[in-house]
Amino acid sequence: MPIATVLSRVLAALAGLALLGIGGTYGLSEWKLRRSHDAPLVALRPGIVTDPAAGERLARIVGCWAGCHGPRGEGGSDQVTGMYRITAPTLAPVIQAYGDAELVRLIRYGVKRDGNSALGMPAATFWPLGEQALADIIAHLRAQPMRTAMPRERQITWRGRWSLATGELRVSADQVDRSAPRWGELPRSNAFERGRYLASIVCSECHGRDFEGDRLQGGPSLAAIAAYSIGQFREFMRTGKPIDGREIPAMNWLPEVGFTDAESEDLYVFLRRRHGLGIEPAVGSQSP
Ligand code: HEC
Repeated sequence: MPIATVLSRVLAALAGLALLGIGGTYGLSEWKLRRSHDAPLVALRPGIVTDPAAGERLARIVGCWAGCHGPRGEGGSDQVTGMYRITAPTLAPVIQAYGDAELVRLIRYGVKRDGNSALGMPAATFWPLGEQALADIIAHLRAQPMRTAMPRERQITWRGRWSLATGELRVSADQVDRSAPRWGELPRSNAFERGRYLASIVCSECHGRDFEGDRLQGGPSLAAIAAYSIGQFREFMRTGKPIDGREIPAMNWLPEVGFTDAESEDLYVFLRRRHGLGIEPAVGSQSP
């Protein structure tokens, strides 16, 4: 066989393989984006008396406000650089379209009304929220004025599709570990337990559920807290500025939350113990 024929056959075979790879990656990523997820559609336990002030504070703590959905739910954008950019929709119209049980399912399981998974919504981080906290947040969100929905976009790069196909990037519903403890329903009677709850519903989004770091979200292991005295950590939680003074855009929402010194201390005690680090004897003295 002439060498030119062999070459062209090899090239054709390679092109075929490449096409198969592209088609496979696209198909698998699209299936993961579109497949429906089973998740219980269960309302919160009846008779919960909601506290609107607590709901407003929690909405800031967990990032409904001053997070992906914009400063006050106007709608915003969520992205993992190089992988996807997606509209975090205007909250009011979404909240109105969802029934309570559907909202609970979306927040806890990352499953939308149509049964598909959200992308970018940190349902795994919301999983530990207790019933009271969820009821307060939902009541607060429902009391907000209606807004016009901003247009939705969803751009997924080839790298993003590849990561979805390989499982490196996961849709919200696939990130939820349904066997994880619901810390919000468990005792929070000392600094460690309170800190564990707060860290789970806030910091885990970018620093990983085990607080050992999350490569895609860019948060390092929270063993980084080794460098902080309690005073420096309180200041960091108040301002969003780390000890070396550099900008951390991903943490610039901290001043909006207004963590109290007691909450910062709880986080400090939990995160230091979690990473096997000692604490100054005066810190955590409120713990029984
Ligand atoms: C939206 C994402 C996000 C959330 C939520 C988040 N962080 Fe971070 N955090 C980051 C990123 C990204 C960095 C690293 C930035 C860098 O290295 O420049 C970081 C860095 C840090 C550092 C290291 C600072 C240093 O001196 O290097 C600490 C400590 C930290 N975060 C604590 C927390 C705590 C505690 C929480 C929860 C209250 C939290 N973070 C929540 C994104 C986040």
